[in-house]
Amino acid sequence: MAQVFESRSLTVIDDFTIEERRYLFDQTKILKSAIEHQDEEILKRFRIDNPDFGIYEVFLEDSTRTKESFRNAAKFHRSKVSDMATDSSSFNKGESYADTFNTLAGYGNSVFIVRSKLEGVCRWLEDEASEFAKRNKLWRKPAFINAGDGKHEHPTQELLDEFTFMEDNRWSFDSIHIALVGDLYHGRTVHSKADGLRVFNKVKVDLVAPPELAMPESYVVKMHQNNFTVRIFKSIDEYLSQDDIADKWYFTRPQLERMGERVLARQDELRTCVTFRREFIDMMPAGTKFYHPLPRHKVHPTIPTFLDDTPLNAWERQSINGMYVRIVLLALIAGKIGNDFFSTESPRQRNDEEYIVKVDVPNKVPENQKDPYSEGVRPIHDGIVIDHIGRGDDPVTIRKQISQIIKVLNLDGLKGGEWVSTSKREDNLFKGIIFRPGMREFTRKELKRLAAVAAGCTLNIIRGGQVVEKYRTHLPPRIYNFSDLSCNNEACISHPNQSEGAPAKFIRTEDNRYACEYCGRLHTYQEIWT
Ligand code: NCD
Repeated sequence: MAQVFESRSLTVIDDFTIEERRYLFDQTKILKSAIEHQDEEILKRFRIDNPDFGIYEVFLEDSTRTKESFRNAAKFHRSKVSDMATDSSSFNKGESYADTFNTLAGYGNSVFIVRSKLEGVCRWLEDEASEFAKRNKLWRKPAFINAGDGKHEHPTQELLDEFTFMEDNRWSFDSIHIALVGDLYHGRTVHSKADGLRVFNKVKVDLVAPPELAMPESYVVKMHQNNFTVRIFKSIDEYLSQDDIADKWYFTRPQLERMGERVLARQDELRTCVTFRREFIDMMPAGTKFYHPLPRHKVHPTIPTFLDDTPLNAWERQSINGMYVRIVLLALIAGKIGNDFFSTESPRQRNDEEYIVKVDVPNKVPENQKDPYSEGVRPIHDGIVIDHIGRGDDPVTIRKQISQIIKVLNLDGLKGGEWVSTSKREDNLFKGIIFRPGMREFTRKELKRLAAVAAGCTLNIIRGGQVVEKYRTHLPPRIYNFSDLSCNNEACISHPNQSEGAPAKFIRTEDNRYACEYCGRLHTYQEIWT
């Protein structure tokens, strides 16, 4: 069987399936024990041991643990490890990410570890660099590991966090009850938990943060979709005033460097809500462990240093585990281990459902049963009518939607009109109609655009005074390949202000919104058009 991990990228935690992550944890357990016992026979099995295997670190934001654990993991592998001097690179001459990384890939580098403020950057580079590798016949497709992208995700931190939870769960995947405490708004390590904790069969998450630092809605939605039980508390005090307290607490640092003036002015108050105090110790359930991705602030740590020498301390072991997990990840991507992995999990299905449905129209309607669309006072002889727009919404919303359809489908320069009307059968329900007498063409691409901007409407093609074709639109499972789409997250690699050339792409969520395929930002279908 083929080794499924070779040259794989890890751009978000869900790039690896649950079984793949569990396999990685099993391998990490073996490696960790071999390192503790200095068992060179076993360690040899993991080592890439190839001085030409190029691992490149590109950190455009500060880092100690992630960067140094990867560098030391690369040294364990006796591979080539480089570190880009980002201050003096051609980024500063306006070069794009794609050009920069393609250049480095061309110099025999196979794995890139990237930390940047740009959300979704690794997903984009993965696509671009594999095209580059094909064009230039490179010996392997470069893999991209996201070492933290803005406020989005931090998948390798997620791996080491889960490995550590597993150690404290006596290797059971059955269930976990965890409190996430601190800056849940900016913390990418807690954002990765929304999919990361899926490795456990039953998940209960308590979110403990004041509203200013609360978990963004998109991750709460994801947690619900993943069937987690989610509870929300404003402070540790509020959390401890009830009795169902988690035995795993994951603290994060208030990320002051990412905060605006308004929030900064209240930093002391916000910190107090999420900082552990001595008087809380006796309220902890037996066997409670504290975790932290670190760093903690030397003046204002959310886990105070007096806890270091107590059984609550799991964050030190967690940090040490970081290098072990990363050694194993590199060994998998290099193809050194992983041949004995096989999966019983079916891959997540891509949703390719039909979203434009042709509706049957009778061949020839008898004269007396004809119910023609009218062009003002005259019936339309030839043209198109878009009907049932925003059915059930209020007239103001429907008018807005009508304007958007006209704009997106470029229907402005033609004769015709549009109005808000009521439905024939239910005269208390409003709907919008656009009619364009004389319009003869409506291409497949236009139909796709119509579905993406006005789901649930019908398109009628009228010839000789009769509806000859009729289509009903549904929300498309994916929307992409239109130049006037845009993610509205300015930190996203695909945002037009970034000028990186990454085309916007969206995927429909269970609640019928659209998530950006790079940064995960949720949009309604009206919000994705520029
Ligand atoms: C975190 C990060 O950079 O996202 N640190 C880490 O990688 N261990 C958390 C932080 O900066 O507070």
